[in-house]
Amino acid sequence: MPDVTWNAKLYDDKHGFVSKYGEDLLGWLAPEKGESILDVGCGTGQLAAQIAQYGASVTGFDYSVQMIEKARAAYPEIPFDIQDARDFHYPQPFDALFSNAALHWINEPEAVIACMYQALKPGGRLVIEMGGKGNVQAIVQAIDEAMWEMGWREKLPVDFWYFPSIGEYASLLEQAGFEVKTALHFDRDTALNGENGMQTWIKMFGGFLFRQLQPEEAEKIVDRATELLKPSHFRSGVWHADYKRLRIKAVK
Ligand code: BEZ
Repeated sequence: MPDVTWNAKLYDDKHGFVSKYGEDLLGWLAPEKGESILDVGCGTGQLAAQIAQYGASVTGFDYSVQMIEKARAAYPEIPFDIQDARDFHYPQPFDALFSNAALHWINEPEAVIACMYQALKPGGRLVIEMGGKGNVQAIVQAIDEAMWEMGWREKLPVDFWYFPSIGEYASLLEQAGFEVKTALHFDRDTALNGENGMQTWIKMFGGFLFRQLQPEEAEKIVDRATELLKPSHFRSGVWHADYKRLRIKAVK
């Protein structure tokens, strides 16, 4: 799992689309009053708070201390914990598990899936969305190319994001004992905020890629990658990211 220090305020201010798009996923979860629901990788807690509005009893956890501090401050009535999705534990199993835009940060899906299975009641449902195969591929390629050009390619970490296909992730879920009910892989071209939208996105989500570089070297890579992306990703004055999503509903 990449070592990421989150700026939780910037995450909400500039990348609020993460939670906004996640709202659509709540339709798949269809929370019911009185249900116990766990939000895996809850970030700043915005979607957990929406799940609570259905009358469900929601709990959230995230690996990031910064995210959980912000979630607790914003929604003090919801229990939020700092836990690792590869090894998390709760005393009672939940009726449903939910996760949006979190699981692609973890390169050990088997461990996460085993924990999620254990945390569900028999018959309980799992509803997840994450980056799918090919997600932000052009952005990754531009960063890679910029690193090559500058002669720093060997400094690019190997523990990138995890963007599986339907076949791969559904198989892992089935091997763990889940029954996969619905799976979708779809394009979600995503408009980024502001005239520096691409630079801001790369620094926010890809900052860990430059941990072996000096800050001024990282700036050069971000600027060059942005330049390479401009013809295809800056359209009508707006930056776009080539998101692809994997959305799955499965039952224990
Ligand atoms: C995503 O939500 O697809 C994503 C976020 C950060 C980095 C990579 C992908």
